[in-house]
Amino acid sequence: MNNTRYSSAGLIIRQREPKNLETPFDRIDSYLTPTALFYIRSHFPRPTLDRASYQLRIDGAVRHPFAISYEQLRNMPSETRVATLECAGNSRVFLIPQVQGAQWELGAAGNAEWTGVPLRALLERAGLADDACEIVLEGADRGAPKEEPRPPDPISYVWSLPRAKAIQPEVLIAYQMNGQDLPLDHGFPVRAIVPGHYGMASVKWLTRIEAVRDPFHGYWQTTDYAYWALTNGKPVRRALGEMKLKSEIARPRIYETLVPNRIYTVSGAAWAGESDVTEIQVSTDGGLGWAEAEFLDPVRRHAWRRWKFDWLTPKGPGQYTLLARAKDASGAFQPYDHDQAYGGYAINHCLSIEVFIDGSG
Ligand code: MTE
Repeated sequence: MNNTRYSSAGLIIRQREPKNLETPFDRIDSYLTPTALFYIRSHFPRPTLDRASYQLRIDGAVRHPFAISYEQLRNMPSETRVATLECAGNSRVFLIPQVQGAQWELGAAGNAEWTGVPLRALLERAGLADDACEIVLEGADRGAPKEEPRPPDPISYVWSLPRAKAIQPEVLIAYQMNGQDLPLDHGFPVRAIVPGHYGMASVKWLTRIEAVRDPFHGYWQTTDYAYWALTNGKPVRRALGEMKLKSEIARPRIYETLVPNRIYTVSGAAWAGESDVTEIQVSTDGGLGWAEAEFLDPVRRHAWRRWKFDWLTPKGPGQYTLLARAKDASGAFQPYDHDQAYGGYAINHCLSIEVFIDGSG
């Protein structure tokens, strides 16, 4: 029995309130994910911000702190960029044993075109102090987080970017998605877009940008979206950042039944953080043999590349395991196993898609 529930737009409901809705990944046919099908990942109820009274404050370790209205922001020179967002918990359902958290399958990821003002332009205007090490982005949504250890009072959604990333030209303070004003659930009126980093860095409903002189150790990047890194052999807790190289099979769906001895076009998408996806290989026998897939999209830093592979399905009935693996510009492939240092996040190992070849025909 299929218990999956869908929103009216066709998104898979993982949680109703706050809204956590997943893209049905097998329905992805276009380079840009249609806005209505783009996944929504929110930790708290959506705040209501009014365009007319909206103010974005830029302060902290800057020489000239200032606030800017929505109108003023829209009148600044803008840029439009395509970027893939992937939630760090995407594909959690593939982890064995199961771990806590929303059981995202393949669709907590999407590719969209974002328009806004480079964060760098705002920091330049504010006169960023030479010794500022991080830029803290703060959203208007507030609440009490669920994971321990919990802060004593309600907090807002906040994420800090290392200075080196914050001043890159691709980081946008965005007000449009796919050519339209941001929808309410995707951060209206203004959000950050941090291409190349997991989705948690792209703070929605952005109201404050604060430069700081000491590393920021807020709840979200220590308790929640963090992993164990090794420093001189010792594990230290670090905030997640760059997305890992990953490919996903969109079609066939897991446990789909296919017709024997027929060409079936296996298709999917692949992305990398600060590198490019240069090759995709597909295995239809659980990883014993691999063949090269064909790209449908060109290389574009921070945006996904869709790919396809024509598979002549076996003549005999049975169960088959499909895998796809991406290679990046350094020549590295995706790993076979999940890195346990990341817990329930950064799930980029080769994901098995089991299918059946029909024996009835
Ligand atoms: N920003 C705010 N203010 N509140 C949030 O809960 N969720 C983050 C990020 N920005 C979040 C946020 C996470 S975990 C992800 S994956 C992305 O937003 C999802 O963006 P989307 O809902 O537009 O797909």
